[in-house]
Amino acid sequence: MRMKHLLLSACLSFDLAPAAMAQSVTGSGVVPATAANSAERAIGFATNAPAGAALVIMTTDATLPPLDGVTLTATERQAVTAAIAAASFDGKAGSTLSLRGIGAHPRILLVGTGPAPSSLALAEAGGKAAQELRSEAHPVTIAGALGDSSAADVAYGFALGQYRFDRYKTVDRKAPSTGTVTLVGANPSAAETAFAGRWKPLADGVRLSRDLANEPANVIYPESFVAQVREAFGNTPGVSIEVLDEAAMRKLGMGTLVGVGQGSPRGSRLLAVRYRGAGAPAAPLAFIGKGITFDSGGISLKPGAGMWDMKGDMSGAASVVGAALSLAKSRAPVHVVAVAALAENMPDGNAQRPGDVTRTMSGKTIEMLNADAEGRLVLADANEYVAATYKPRAIVNIATLTGAIVGALDDQYAGLFARDEKLAAALLAAGTASGEELWRMPLHKNYAEKLKSDIADIRNIAPSQGPGASLGAHVIGFFVDEATPWAHLDIAGVNQADKATPLVPRGMSGFGVRLLDQLARSGE
Ligand code: BES
Ligand code: ZN
Ligand code: MN
Repeated sequence: MRMKHLLLSACLSFDLAPAAMAQSVTGSGVVPATAANSAERAIGFATNAPAGAALVIMTTDATLPPLDGVTLTATERQAVTAAIAAASFDGKAGSTLSLRGIGAHPRILLVGTGPAPSSLALAEAGGKAAQELRSEAHPVTIAGALGDSSAADVAYGFALGQYRFDRYKTVDRKAPSTGTVTLVGANPSAAETAFAGRWKPLADGVRLSRDLANEPANVIYPESFVAQVREAFGNTPGVSIEVLDEAAMRKLGMGTLVGVGQGSPRGSRLLAVRYRGAGAPAAPLAFIGKGITFDSGGISLKPGAGMWDMKGDMSGAASVVGAALSLAKSRAPVHVVAVAALAENMPDGNAQRPGDVTRTMSGKTIEMLNADAEGRLVLADANEYVAATYKPRAIVNIATLTGAIVGALDDQYAGLFARDEKLAAALLAAGTASGEELWRMPLHKNYAEKLKSDIADIRNIAPSQGPGASLGAHVIGFFVDEATPWAHLDIAGVNQADKATPLVPRGMSGFGVRLLDQLARSGE
């Protein structure tokens, strides 16, 4: 028995170890480099609907609006009107009615926006349409008395709602949606301009964030995160990208960031994407995201169930670069620096131990009592580095920081912690406008007591029960100068959607891209 076991383990290590080692470091081998998600529908604008398309009609109430540019005979109109009455369709936001067998239309889908819809309500209706038409084989026309900017809003929602991440499915892959989606209106070129100038770049930013977060941790690790971000930005004007590798960070004394990644063979990185638009102020707004490409908990290992979700522990980092992509591609007159604090948190002989003390680049010390409270450690150094390097006018952290925020706010709101009232108000307003909503959480100076270390400046957890999300925020805030307006967003409850909503299909949500894009544009 024993012999057999020994033989088996010898064989295993002989056969698998070298390949497995190489694979674990490069991340390649399992996954074809060329894998791509099934194509999304291209989005266009026209005065007239193409023939043979599925027809989406946006309605504000229970009546059928005038449909310029769409051929609907009197009999067909009558049939739709009769169906509206029979189904008691009321046109409220979120309502839909799908009809088949009317004239030559393969399908007619009514989507309610509710009366006087906001830009966000229109986008949600567009997203609803995209999701209802996921496996629709025909091209799609969207009509319904849409003004130019309304058509652009709907198109934006359609772009967010049609997202899918299916690149690794080789069986049971849903048929890709075929054909384009055309928004019909009186002035298609004005609608196109509105879409291309603002909403398409934003949808591209959200897609980047979702793709990075949905990718498994054998594909996205610090180095490959950087490579994918470089590729996404290409030569976008006004953008400069700076990357620190582990050696550079050690040299700068960034001991708490480097410490977190020290149990992983994949080197840590700090990625800074700076975008300065025409006429933008000299001091940038800094968005600094937690980029743990996998959080096993390190030596304070997490339980197995659910650990797979921790491939998404770099969602904050993914969203800051997504927001920067949107702002840069739309040439917004803003100055931002989006920073990803990238490391993989793994248990290993080289990993840091509970009780270890590390030093940030400013010289402050942290006693690390729990290796699973690692987000605050990488953000401590990232915040100090950004403050010293970019002299930002404000810092916003965004991180999947605590399980405690999930218990408090679930998937409805991200937690907002702020020391600056003006920045807090601007963030809350951006949340409402963008649809990525925030709820203010407390920061009390007495939390400092709970985080006092016997041997260092601060410890990374309170050893007894406490307000977990707030304590995490406090630790991060300890590394930001009181004079710099600072806020922290805990997105652990909202970075992943267990079920689809109109703008967010199931999977990683890209939460934060729309919010931070909106914040930057609001002039904060
Ligand atoms: N990445 C986790 C937080 C998390 C939990 C994100 C659930 C998404 C869903 C974070 O690094 C973590 O492990 N936090 C600990 C902190 C604790 C040790 C003080 C937690 O929340 O349990
Ligand atoms: Zn984490
Ligand atoms: Mn953790």
